Parts: sequence; C-alpha cells; structure tokens
Amino acid sequence: MVKAVVLGAAGGIGQPLALLLKANPAVTELGLFDIVNTPGVAADLSHISTPSKVEGYLPPNDGLKSALKGADIVVIPAGVPRKPGVCIPQNPIRPQPNQLISLFLIDDPINAGIVRDLANGIAETAPKAFVLVISNPVNSTVPIVAEVFKKHGVFDPKRLFGVTTLDVVRASTFVAEILGDLSLAPKITVPVVGGHSGVTIVPLLSQSSSPLPSGFAQDSLEKLTNRIQFGGDEVVKAKDGAGSATLSMAYAGAEFAAKVIRAVGGEKGIVAPSFVNLAADKVSGEALKKEIGKELEYFSAPIELGPEGVVSIRPLGNLTDYEKTLVNAALPDLESNIEKGVAFIGNAK
Ligand code: NAD
Ligand code: LMR
Repeated sequence: MVKAVVLGAAGGIGQPLALLLKANPAVTELGLFDIVNTPGVAADLSHISTPSKVEGYLPPNDGLKSALKGADIVVIPAGVPRKPGVCIPQNPIRPQPNQLISLFLIDDPINAGIVRDLANGIAETAPKAFVLVISNPVNSTVPIVAEVFKKHGVFDPKRLFGVTTLDVVRASTFVAEILGDLSLAPKITVPVVGGHSGVTIVPLLSQSSSPLPSGFAQDSLEKLTNRIQFGGDEVVKAKDGAGSATLSMAYAGAEFAAKVIRAVGGEKGIVAPSFVNLAADKVSGEALKKEIGKELEYFSAPIELGPEGVVSIRPLGNLTDYEKTLVNAALPDLESNIEKGVAFIGNAK
C-alpha cells in the first residue's frame, strides 16, 4: 500500500505528474493538494481505471493535513516557474548561475516561503514520508525543507531528495540525438552530479552508458554540456512567457518517484542521481566530500536507494580533466545556494 501526495498538484507539473502517479500501479492512494483546482483534477483522475483512490484538497478545513495524512511519499512541485526576460538575457550571453537563486530567494522569495510552509505541514503530519522536492531553486529549497524538519526534530537525511532527474533525462535524450538513434534514449544513462541550476549541473558524459562517437571534438562536448546545463532555458524561451518545463519534468519526477517506491518496496540495486544531504550516509558522504575537495552539506550524486531511502552515496568515479574543471566550477555556487536556503529559515524565526 503506497500513498503518494502531490503538493502543487493543479500546476503545470503537478497535473501531468499526478496523472503519471495515477498510472503507476504501485500507488494505491493519491492525495492532491494545491491552493486551487484540486477537486477538479482529482475528479478527472479518479475515472482512470488504475488501483489508486484519488482525493483533492484545498487549504480550508486543514486541507494540507488531510492530504498528507498517512503519506508514504510526498512530491513537491508547488511554486512559481521562471519567466523569460528575467533570467534569460535577450543577447547570447547565458544567465549567470545565481540568477535562478536570486530570483527566488532575494528579489522574490515566494518559492522559499511556499516550500517552508509545506515542509512545516509535512513535519507535523507525515514526518516519516519520503520527500521529493521539485520546486526551484532545488539547491536552496532542499536545505529549506531540511532546516524546517530540524526545527521540528524530525529530520532524516535519508528521506529527503532534491529531484535532479530532468537533467539526467535531458542528458540521455541529447546523447541519443547525437548518436542518431532516439530509440536508445530510454536505455542511456549519464550520471549528472552537483546541483540543479546552470553551472552546478555537471553531466559526466565520459561515463555515459552509450559512449559518444569516437573522435567527438572537445568543442562539441562543451556545447553538449552547456545544453544540458541550460536545458531549462531552451524550454522557457520556447514557451515564451507560459512558464518553464512541465511535461518533461512530470515525466522525470514520476520516474524518480517510481524508483523510490520500488526501492522502498524491497527492490535492490536501484541507483539514481539526486541532490541529498551528505549526512544521509556518513561513510559514503564523507568520502564524497573528500572526492570533491569541499565540505559541502549537500550534493547531487548517484544514490543507491533502499527501504529506508538513501543507502549510500556513490562516488563520482574517474573524471576527465574537463569534468574536474566543471565540478570545481560548480562548488562556489553550490555553497552559496545551500547557505541561502539555510539562512532563509534561520532568518525567518
Ligand atoms: P505552475 O505555476 O504551473 O504550478 C505551480 C502550482 O503550485 C500552481 O498550481 C499553484 O497554485 C501551486 N501553489 C502555489 N502556492 C502553493 C502552496 N502554498 N501550496 C500548494 N500549492 C501551491 O508551475 P510549474 O511549471 O508547475 O513549476 C513549479 C515549480 O517547479 C517551479 O518552482 C519551477 O521552477 C520548478 N521546476 C523544477 C524543475 C526541476 O528540475 N526540479 C523543473 C521544472 C520546474
Ligand atoms: C528546468 O531545468 O527546466 C527547471 O529547473 C526550470 C527552469 O526554470 O529552468
């Protein structure tokens, strides 16, 4: 029996994500919470002939609590998406890596506040649930959830995940495109590590399960890396004011949720990259800090999943010199993004 809950379930990501969770036969109950429209989304989904019972909740009458009651897994895509023009300059210069962070945490801390409030609800009603954070900026919203949980005395780093799967999905797709065979895309795995914004996204293309063509030039490798790092911009620009990635994100979020559900159900050997607190597994977390040469509290790395959540944090492995440069370039931004998330809760006493 698995109860999955989506917070932000009426949104661009929330609706298709709820659909994909409804289509997952392992889910037996689906709770949908949003500040608008969840009764309609729930009524619609409830006609689909899969096992789960669906309920929609709104804020009145303790809707958040009712949605979260008995939750095993909570996925959070609540919040505002990026808009073009704010983060995407009209010239070819790429946005600065911290723009996503500054947009949400300094100029307009709306997502930070939404995630904080939802985390309070989870800590009170479903403190043992596995929590999957999609809301941006992930490098800061995951620390926000952790800090809220610490205040409630319920923080278990094994159960908190920042969802970076869209970067992994993009990497697989773009590599398959380069190999000229999209049918390979579902089978290709590329570890994507670091974090989830701009240069903190580090694809380890040398470890792609389907190698790039021999003689793949360095400038092509740099272009491909850049495309994965700034894949979100491609979608924001194409949507032209209508938001950021929703459908690909829902697919990625449902994929990651399905892996967590399978691992919790006892399936062994499931590994997927995710942005986690490195205390989730002391030995492998400390080893990873040594590998990256920095005392970071959070990092995205391939995670072995099990019944309690994080079993171990896998090493990055053999990196090329170029990949080492990318990891080093990610570290200062990651550090400041994490600090901003922690400080947001520290400051909001
Ligand atoms: P959206 O505006 O379409 O949907 C967001 C939903 O959140 C809305 O339905 C809104 O009503 C709801 N919401 C707002 N405040 C809420 C609250 N307090 N409680 C519950 N629900 C609330 O946005 P979207 O396109 O679905 O994106 C949502 C978030 O996901 C954004 O922060 C976006 O940047 C992020 N995102 C992350 C990734 C990733 O890879 N992690 C990818 C794409 C988008
Ligand atoms: C993405 O990677 O598409 C998301 O993080 C959304 C964004 O604003 O880039």
